[in-house]
Formats: sequence, structure tokens, C-alpha cells
Amino acid sequence: RILIIDFGSQYTQLIARRIREAGVYSEIHPWDMDEAAIRGFAPTGIILSGGPESVHESDPPGVPQCVFELGVPVLGICYGMQTMAAQLGGRVEGSDHREFGYAQVRAHGHTPLLTHIEDHTTPEGFGMLDVWMSHGDRVTQMPEGFKLMASTESAPIAGMADEVRGFYGVQFHPEVTHTTQGQRILSRFVHDICGCENLWTAGNIIDDMTARVREQVGDDHVVLGLSGGVDSSVVGALLHKAIGDQLTCVFVDTGLLRHQEGDQVMATFARHMGVRVIRVDAEDRFLSALEGEADPEEKRRIIGRLFVEVFDEEASKLTNARWLAQGTIYPDVIESAGSKTGKAHVIKSHHNVGGLPETMKLGLVEPLRELFKDEVRRIGVELGLPTEMVYRHPFPGPGLGVRILGQVKKEYADLLRRADHIFIEELRAAGLYDQVSQAFAVFLPVKSVGVMGDGRRYDYVVALRAVETIDFMTARWAHLPYEFLDKVSRRIINEIKGISRVTYDISGKPPATIEWE
Ligand code: XMP
Repeated sequence: RILIIDFGSQYTQLIARRIREAGVYSEIHPWDMDEAAIRGFAPTGIILSGGPESVHESDPPGVPQCVFELGVPVLGICYGMQTMAAQLGGRVEGSDHREFGYAQVRAHGHTPLLTHIEDHTTPEGFGMLDVWMSHGDRVTQMPEGFKLMASTESAPIAGMADEVRGFYGVQFHPEVTHTTQGQRILSRFVHDICGCENLWTAGNIIDDMTARVREQVGDDHVVLGLSGGVDSSVVGALLHKAIGDQLTCVFVDTGLLRHQEGDQVMATFARHMGVRVIRVDAEDRFLSALEGEADPEEKRRIIGRLFVEVFDEEASKLTNARWLAQGTIYPDVIESAGSKTGKAHVIKSHHNVGGLPETMKLGLVEPLRELFKDEVRRIGVELGLPTEMVYRHPFPGPGLGVRILGQVKKEYADLLRRADHIFIEELRAAGLYDQVSQAFAVFLPVKSVGVMGDGRRYDYVVALRAVETIDFMTARWAHLPYEFLDKVSRRIINEIKGISRVTYDISGKPPATIEWE
């Protein structure tokens, strides 16, 4: 087990993630963790994270001295290396130019951390690494016993090692993917240097999470808002495994979901897995609350408020529920709080349950709050959820409510659902679904003239949207093949009475957004 000591770096969770990828168990604790707790944790190795501070501040954060006295290997990353240097008698200085971003590091000598790990070699035979740097201060003098391990032009001491004591420091960030060999370096540290075995698999992670949930909730009952999305589905499957009948899920059918989505959720959870799911058919309520409203933000507010209302009503009927489970994942935590060490406590407000009546006093169960999306997906597959559900494109909380431009009507939602289904079905059939990040149809409440057989049509328009993106902050429109678009367009117009024209959205983000509203 690896102890990760957090100095507040935005990358600390990435370190934990890389250690998991190396198949090793780790825990993140704040830098002011007390000595007894560190000894009690009995780490096989310790990693000191980066952080925003400088060792030159009046009272800089540091690690308890015992970290260096336990006789286990220690790896300091960025600020972690600087505090290691400063605490062990070396020197750290401010530098006039900050190094930020891509850099090339020259590896020196043959320490077990970097031997034969390199991206390329210089003509003189030195190993070079492509790395990600982000620092202002730098180590200018190594503590006694350390040898130079790596250097860059602006950081002559970019890596240092004391092999006798097993202390290593790197100024660059091996945990980010821009450091091409980062995973190998961290894996080298935990396996070869600390001697950890590759035992921490998806199966073990699930066992650990189920044990923790059981410990947290005991014999109490838990309520979960199941949306059909990946995160809440994985939490549902996980809690069902952990506590079985102590879990009750509430699934709110807003009438703004995708084709057969409600039936699929019920089939998977209630019928197939035997999870207790209350399905609330709230279509009429949502549609009447939305009646006459055309403003996108106002529509979002109405849907969000009503969702909470309906969920609360159902949850309050469960007199014995003491806990509320949520599918919060790590990116939600950073987005909402910029939290360090998971100390901040956040409830997703935009599309999960926003707020429950004060009187309910439910505690929160958030088993996924340290995981990244792709890890959540792997766990979902391991738990036996259908792959199509786990690898589904994201779907906004307000659902079709923001894909029907302007006023929302049942007639529009029904037409849109069918068009969207044809598009998605064809994407899957053509093997294109997994190549795009998100694809959907949008309903345009304008009528356009068409001709079919001998008849004139005067019907609605749908737009198809498909984008490729890594983080959904920027996106490029997917260059889908013309033949494919042609087929989808023909099917939609021929099969759906009420739609006479199909267009394809060729706007990138920015300046457009992914959704139309
Ligand atoms: P935009 O349209 O802002 O979308 O480029 C970026 C990503 O966020 C999703 N999205 C939402 N998700 N509630 C949500 O839960 C919303 O109100 C919402 N609006 C957009 C969108 O589907 C895309 O993946």
C-alpha cells in the first residue's frame, strides 16, 4: 500500500489513479496527517505530491520527519521533491523564469527509477524524456547522499536520488499523460523500488468499495436517484452488490428521455438484477410545467426544480431511508470545489438531486467520488452492467427539454425521440458510435416544404449533431461519411411522418456549444 501525501496539487488524484493502474492500492492524505496515523497506515512506499506553495513561505507545508525515518522508499514530485530537498538539508531557490508545460529532461546515471526508460537518446548516448513541468522554485543543492538523476536547461537538478535510503525526487510530473513514460516511471517506483505486487484489480476495487459502503451505512436504508446515466447506474449496481435490499432506487421518467430509456433502465435494474426500483411516471407533470416556456435557462430551471420535487416526494415516502447515494465522480468534485484531499463536500446541483427537504437529514453515500470516468466504466462492466449502457454517450440532465428548441410539447418529444433513435441505431450499425464522443438529434420547430410521392408535405425539421471531443470543453464536428448521413436522412424522412427535412450541424465548439440550447 502506497501513501500519497497531498500538498494540494491539481494532479494528486491523477497520482492515485496511476498507482491504481499499476495494480497497487493507495490512499491520499493531507500533508498535515499526524505521525501516528502515518505509522498506523504502515505504507510500503510514500509519494509526496506537488502543490501550489513555495518552501520560501514563512511557514511552508512539509511532511512529518517520520516519513524519512520509516525505512520505506519515498518519491517526491515537484513541490514534494522541493520539500524533501529542503527538509533533508538541501537548498531550494526561487527562479526568475517559471517553467511550465512540455520539457525535455536528460536522464543521468543509472538509478533504478529511470534506467532504460527514455523517449529517445542524444547522439552522445544520453537518455531523454519528454515530460510535463510546472514549477517556479527549483532545487539548487541536493541534500547529502543524493545523486543527480535528471536535468533540464532551466532546472539543472530536475531529478535526484538517494538509492541507499530509497529517496527519489522528480521536478516534472510523471502522473500526467504528457509525460510519455510517466506510467512506467510510477510503476517502476511502486513495483521495483517499493516491492508492491500487482494485485489491485477492478474486482478488488469493487470489494473494497462494497466493504466501505457496508461499514458506512450498517443496517440503514439508502435511496438512490437513478437517471439511466453511467454514474448513477454504476452506483446502483455497486450498492446492490454491497447492501442488496437495503437499497431503493427512484427513477423519474420525465417524458424527456431517449427512446425506450425508461424501459431499459427497468429491464436492467429491476428485472435483470433484482434491484428495488420505483419508477415515477412524471411526463404529464413535466410537460405541463414546461408549457408555454421557450427560454432555455428557464426551461432548465423548471426541469431541475421539478426533478427535485418529484424525487423528494418519493424519497419522503421511504420512511426508513437514512442515506442518499449519488453518482458523484472525481471530475465533478474538482469542477465544483477545486477541493484538496476530498475535504470539500459537494452535491451536484445541475442534474442530480439538488436538495432534499431539511427534515430528511440524509447522509451522503458517494462511492465513486475518487474515480475518473473511464475507471467508473470499467467497474460498471465488471459489475455486469450492459456495455451499451456503460459506454453510452453523455446525456444532459434536462434531456430532450434542451434539444427541442423553444417550447416543449409531447408531439415534438415523440418525433425527436424517433429521429434520434434512428440516428443512434445507424451509428452503431456502421461502427461509428464509439468513434464520436456525443451524437444526437435536435428538434427545430419550423416547418419546411417537401414532396413525397405526389403529395406535398409541410413538416418539421431535425438537425443531426455529432462531435468529437476529449473534455467537452472544445469540440469539432464529426466528419461523418456522406453516404452514412444520406442513409440516416432518408430513413428519418421516410419513416417519421411529421419530419420533412434533415440537416447536419457543422459548427465547432467554440463558437457554438454542443447542445443547441
Ligand atoms: P455544451 O452544450 O455546453 O455541452 O457544449 C457540454 C456537455 O455538457 C452537456 N450539457 C449538460 N449536462 N445538464 C447536464 O447535465 C445541462 O444542463 C447540460 N447542458 C449541456 C452536453 O450534453 C455536453 O456533453
